[in-house]
Amino acid sequence: MTALISTKVAAALNAQVGLEFQASLQYEALAAWFRLEGLPRLSAHFARQAEEERTHAHRFIKYLLDTGRGLDLPAIPAPVCQFKSAEAAAKLALDHELKVTDSIKGLLSLAEKEGDRFTQHSLQWFIQEQLEELSSADELLQIVRRAGDGGLLFVEHYLATKGAAGAGGGPAD
Ligand SMILES: [Fe+2]
Ligand SMILES: [Fe+2]
Repeated sequence: MTALISTKVAAALNAQVGLEFQASLQYEALAAWFRLEGLPRLSAHFARQAEEERTHAHRFIKYLLDTGRGLDLPAIPAPVCQFKSAEAAAKLALDHELKVTDSIKGLLSLAEKEGDRFTQHSLQWFIQEQLEELSSADELLQIVRRAGDGGLLFVEHYLATKGAAGAGGGPAD
């Protein structure tokens, strides 16, 4: 199959797939930690995020294959599994989303520099998704902060009602 994107863009996309899987593993670690802390809603929230990051990785993989480029994945670093507090855990989640966002912006800059319209177009979905992810990660951190260690059951309640209102899922295709 003829390749429709440059080797440079393909390499950056492969790195991005690695980052999405890394995010997925990090969320698994957060879900496990919150579960053992006795906070099932927070655990379920991060388990859902882990699943979502896998779908992001698969979306990038599909794009690579659609454009005639193969997989060349990097090693995935081990996630952080221990946190000194719920706040530290929520902060790490936000920091990771910021890192992923920077990486996607970098990918977009590269695609723009190369005049690669296919990649620019497909990145729009991810840019929109990152806006939602950052906003929700930031909101969760604020709520965890405000609750403090003694108030984490309020955070559980917040997630329960937010879930009932129908949360997440990413931007429409
Ligand atoms: Fe992602
Ligand atoms: Fe994310």
